[in-house]
Amino acid sequence: MAETITLHDAFLDELRDAYDAEKQLIKALPKLAKASSSAQLRAAFESHLEETRGHVERLDRVFESLDEKASAKHCDGIAGIIQEGGAILDEDFEGATLDACLIGAGQRAEHYEMAAYGTLIAWARGMGHTEAADLLQENLDEEKAADEKLSQLAEGGINQEACDAAHSGDEETEEAAKSKRRANRGRSTPAAVSTRGRR
Ligand SMILES: [Fe+2]
Ligand SMILES: [Fe+2]
Repeated sequence: MAETITLHDAFLDELRDAYDAEKQLIKALPKLAKASSSAQLRAAFESHLEETRGHVERLDRVFESLDEKASAKHCDGIAGIIQEGGAILDEDFEGATLDACLIGAGQRAEHYEMAAYGTLIAWARGMGHTEAADLLQENLDEEKAADEKLSQLAEGGINQEACDAAHSGDEETEEAAKSKRRANRGRSTPAAVSTRGRR
């Protein structure tokens, strides 16, 4: 009879998946850093690249704590996210527009990792693998901090600059268009006028 597969097996499987995802990100992050036009964004990607190397080392220790040999299993999820992020580099985006798109791509990867580590930590704690859970938590904390850093950069001016550039050629701003529509509505509302007249 086949051996029963348990959550522990699923846990090891997901760990191998995360191990591979981190290794794929070690190859992808330098490309995002290199493409960044903002020096701060480049520095953020570079510093997270260093942290990502540390994530692989922590995962080595997780496998060790479980008396398992560290091994990777191809992570299709992060491969897809990296592929989509790479497609941005094929476009002719520049400056803040490019940076806003790179931040979006980077945050998709961080959220994927955060979801993976969240599950792994819950399972590790539930099964009593405390040392593994603590190490995984350290990785999760750094993923969250990296995600927050990217949000700060986006909200600290990059998004606004990209949004302004998107509409810099427009003849009227959204606000001007809105007030014009309001003015037109006021002029062409015979129903409202006649209602008022009946009162
Ligand atoms: Fe990571
Ligand atoms: Fe990450």
